[in-house]
Amino acid sequence: MRFFSALSTIIAAASVALVSAQEAARFGVVNVSPSGLLTANESITIKYNSTLAAHQPLYVDFYLEGEFSNGNAAPNLLISRNTYSVNQTLLLQNATVPNLDLLGNVTYGLWAWVTYNQDSLTQIGGISA
Ligand SMILES: *[C@@H]1O[C@H](CO)[C@@H](O)[C@H](O)[C@H]1NC(C)=O
Ligand SMILES: *[C@@H]1O[C@H](CO)[C@@H](O)[C@H](O)[C@H]1NC(C)=O
Ligand SMILES: *[C@@H]1O[C@H](CO)[C@@H](O)[C@H](O)[C@H]1NC(C)=O
Ligand SMILES: *[C@@H]1O[C@H](CO)[C@@H](O)[C@H](O)[C@H]1NC(C)=O
Ligand SMILES: *[C@@H]1O[C@H](CO)[C@@H](O)[C@H](O)[C@H]1NC(C)=O
Repeated sequence: MRFFSALSTIIAAASVALVSAQEAARFGVVNVSPSGLLTANESITIKYNSTLAAHQPLYVDFYLEGEFSNGNAAPNLLISRNTYSVNQTLLLQNATVPNLDLLGNVTYGLWAWVTYNQDSLTQIGGISA
């Protein structure tokens, strides 16, 4: 019994890892360099890679999503809207982090929000850096 319960725990953990890997690839992958916390006015390079995305993006919008130090959500900030061509798999972009200090003590991360067609519906999904 002990063996079986240990085994099913391992299988459950493996399926969770698999599901999150699939979820991570579903909308493509986005990276920011330099990595680490985003700071006001910082110059960053954003790399969005849709090679493994389940559906070809129509648009890729880069946003910052963050929170105040008390845990409340801070305003979402648009970095850029981008059209994405039919056979495109990569979008490299230099950008400047807005002056986040205007909002006080905030922590922000970058998201790529992807617009795509599936099942005759125009859908939107997001992936974080
Ligand atoms: C960001 O830029 C604004 C406007 O130029 C400036 O007032 C502010 O001091 C800068 N903040 C940092 C942390 O560089
Ligand atoms: C894009 O993702 C694919 C699949 O993971 C990978 O093979 C390729 O090297 C990536 N391209 C870049 C420029 O990172
Ligand atoms: C901002 O909030 C963090 C987390 O609560 C805290 O550690 C830090 O000291 C705060 N910074 C300032 C400048 O208030
Ligand atoms: C996209 O790739 C397909 C297959 O390689 C090609 O037939 C088509 O012309 C390409 N479309 C564009 C807009 O480049
Ligand atoms: C980003 O800036 C660097 C340094 O100026 C430059 O070499 C690179 O070509 C730029 N990349 C893009 C995608 O504009």
